[in-house]
Amino acid sequence: MKKLMTGFVTISLFAAALLADQNIKPIKEEGVKYIKMLGGALKKEVKAKMKEDPSGALAMGFCSTKASEITEKINNQLPHYASVRRTALKVRNPKNSPDKVDTEVMEQYEAAIKAGKFTPKDIKVVESGDAYRIYKPLVTKAMCLKCHGQNISDDIRAVLKKVYPNDKATGFKEGDLRGVIVAEIKKD
Ligand code: HEC
Repeated sequence: MKKLMTGFVTISLFAAALLADQNIKPIKEEGVKYIKMLGGALKKEVKAKMKEDPSGALAMGFCSTKASEITEKINNQLPHYASVRRTALKVRNPKNSPDKVDTEVMEQYEAAIKAGKFTPKDIKVVESGDAYRIYKPLVTKAMCLKCHGQNISDDIRAVLKKVYPNDKATGFKEGDLRGVIVAEIKKD
């Protein structure tokens, strides 16, 4: 009898987990859509500018003047209950600073990287106050290193010093967690 009961408890817990997962799925999908809107817009522009000028100087000028503008533009296209932004544990622009929930989620990603258990497909959905947050990790790739890596050219360094005197977002290696894109969807 005891064994049977244990079996029952396991099954009902599993059912509860599945239900929760199903409830969360549309929220996750909606968040990912907004994340892709912002990520896609930024990536497209940076890639084009990097191609035009491989030193990264042109793309740097673009990022420093247009990244927040593009973020604002995308947010204006979203429903009133949603928003999307970028953040990181080490930020370049202090306006992108993380809050407590952001920090906790990014620490989880970093722990997974350390443990060799990380996948960039690990989208996390968390509840925070009156909203759901959907997180997508951003891994440092080779193309990020010109502006976030260990050997940054003098030209780019000069711009960084001028525009971001408190820049913390250098010294990254390929495979490091650079930051996250996070969508917020208010509960109704
Ligand atoms: C041409 C230079 C350049 C390249 C290449 C570049 N970035 Fe950035 N990145 C910047 C600048 C400048 C900012 C600050 C933008 C702002 O003022 O909001 C920034 C900000 C960020 C932020 C927001 C958090 C913060 O630090 O303020 C993230 C996340 C980020 N970059 C990730 C990446 C990733 C991932 C890549 C590679 C796929 C990348 N960047 C490539 C210049 C660059």
